[in-house]
Amino acid sequence: MNPIFPHFLHGGDYNPDQWLDRPDILEEDVRMMRKAHVNAVSIGIFSWSRLEPEEGVFDFGWLDEVIRRLTDNGIQIVLATPSGARPAWMAQKYPEVLRCGPDFQRMHYGDRHNHCPTSPIYREKVRAIDSALAKRYAKHPGVILWHIGNEFGGECRCPLCTKAFRDWLRNKYGTLDALNKRWWTDFWSHRITAWDQIEPPSPKGDQCNPAVKVDWRRFVSSQVRSFIEMERDAVKAYNADLPVTTNLMNRFWDYDYFDLAKAIDVVSWDSYPAWHGEDDLQTAAEFAMNHDLMRSLKRKPFLLIESTPSLVNWKDTNKLKRPGMHMLSSMQAIAHGSQSVMMFQWRKGRGGAEAFHGAVVSHDGRDDTRVFRDVEAVGKALQHMTPVLSEDTQAKACLLFDWENRWAIDFAEMGRRYAMHYFDTCVRYYRPLWEKGVSVDLRDMSEDTDLSGYSFVIAPMLFMQRNGIAEKLRSYVEQGGTLLVTYLSGLVNEDDLTFLGDAPHGLTDVLGLRAEELDTLYPGETNTLLLDNGKRVPLSRYCELPEDVAAQAVGTYGEDFYAGRPCLTVHAYGKGRAWYLAAEPADEEAMRTVMARVTDEIALPHALPDALPQGVIATARGATVFVQNYTKEERSVCLTDQWRDLITGEEKQGSAVLPPYGVWVLQKEA
Ligand code: GLA
Ligand code: ZN
Repeated sequence: MNPIFPHFLHGGDYNPDQWLDRPDILEEDVRMMRKAHVNAVSIGIFSWSRLEPEEGVFDFGWLDEVIRRLTDNGIQIVLATPSGARPAWMAQKYPEVLRCGPDFQRMHYGDRHNHCPTSPIYREKVRAIDSALAKRYAKHPGVILWHIGNEFGGECRCPLCTKAFRDWLRNKYGTLDALNKRWWTDFWSHRITAWDQIEPPSPKGDQCNPAVKVDWRRFVSSQVRSFIEMERDAVKAYNADLPVTTNLMNRFWDYDYFDLAKAIDVVSWDSYPAWHGEDDLQTAAEFAMNHDLMRSLKRKPFLLIESTPSLVNWKDTNKLKRPGMHMLSSMQAIAHGSQSVMMFQWRKGRGGAEAFHGAVVSHDGRDDTRVFRDVEAVGKALQHMTPVLSEDTQAKACLLFDWENRWAIDFAEMGRRYAMHYFDTCVRYYRPLWEKGVSVDLRDMSEDTDLSGYSFVIAPMLFMQRNGIAEKLRSYVEQGGTLLVTYLSGLVNEDDLTFLGDAPHGLTDVLGLRAEELDTLYPGETNTLLLDNGKRVPLSRYCELPEDVAAQAVGTYGEDFYAGRPCLTVHAYGKGRAWYLAAEPADEEAMRTVMARVTDEIALPHALPDALPQGVIATARGATVFVQNYTKEERSVCLTDQWRDLITGEEKQGSAVLPPYGVWVLQKEA
């Protein structure tokens, strides 16, 4: 794997434009950055009103000076385009740059991340400022990466977007007949007879046709992708070799990140776990999966481009990272393939919404605080870890995670309606593997998805099938793979129209059964799975009822009118095995038990040969193993092999104590 940069990036968002009247502070920043081993900062993310104070009048003087000061001191620049927020003069003169909400009403000027992605004027203004920035800085040796906009999100229902949606549909369907057929519009008399009868789905209009809603999501996603491509092309015109990123988010739903990632060179993301809550292991599992997702989007290294050194200010409860947690969570990102630890933000501002958001430097301006020392320690650790840069995660397990499937499930009028929890369900299947030190890739149903290298593929709730995924899964099993399919699978095609015939579509012979009915349990209600190894597993939410079962029943239902019927089955197909889990294990322990039974027979590589105590997780990145203690207690770990910790240089073998929230970055002694 080729590293993006020759060393780990350490730094974060820096907003010197808020301090232009304090040259003393700007000087002090550079001194403190060097002390904290900061080697890169993201600047200009929200600088538009300083860069173009009046329409067509650019002021780069202050930015020249900032870039000179930083790069003279060995600090590299991630240079942002300012499209994440616009100046007031622009909104006043061109209201079409502002978004229209779900009620089709135009928003007033304010906040950020709320432009119309279609507006030709906004695109023109963005292109102009991006070109001016690129003309001036794209060849600067200290500028290493473009940061396009900021956290793209949301959607717009203005007349321009509505028209663009209609054009997009016309391009997709060709004729109204085709659209009517595929949208199943004879239901409730919704036949469309002219393109301009179509509106974006909304609470004011159409909100019940899932196919329309999925198409709207696809349109919005592609509109934002084209916006990002427009920005990318504007800056690349001045230096095609300077890579481009945009910062992505956790649990993000609005756009298809697998698709969006095609518009950028490097994936980067903003990670803000709520540590020290009820279950840190659950938090860690969710964020581990997200790091893996980010690595999987382009199957390339990614950047952790934002994280907090201490706390955030926008959660309901904003808790400090306990001692050790900044190192531990930073190293978790590296363990899963990050090439950086970047933070939001370098210095707290004095006003605005984020004055009390955590930062490396607080209002006291000190460099001897706990937070500053924690940041310094991470910067120092990264300097010892350069050999890890070119190491790549080698995953033998794969989780199918698909945005279009997610939208289709979330819009499905069935089951636990509007509370299907696809993302959380995926985390639940991911967690037992992660706990055992098994590396996992995430793949979607894109045409180019290739499953042949994996030993184990899990496809939770594969409700929608697209791009011939059933065929892919069939040949994957045929050739010796192990597959796990669950309830709620193979029900609709890419148009969100149900398949006619037995479910899961195209997989009944592979699984050796068909799924006939889906029972949804009330909150608090349970059933039981009785496993062939004598274990009893509580079930909740969904219980599907298989019929014509030729597969081997590994577990059966314990209760209700379907007691005794198969619930967990395995079927030999070709050289491989296909598992089917008809119901949802009720809690984490239940999930662990089921996944242990399924994975028992698969030779999946584990990060460490040693058994680890509760709350300690090992993650491999190539030959480097990260051992992480997600508990607030010491944990004693027994290591068979002889290792060296890259952070401290200490040798580790036999029994050793991992402090609360401690982490080792281990490599074998040569
Ligand atoms: C996001 C944004 C930043 C900042 C942080 C605060 O990630 O990109 O500009 O608002 O949140 O946590
Ligand atoms: Zn719009």
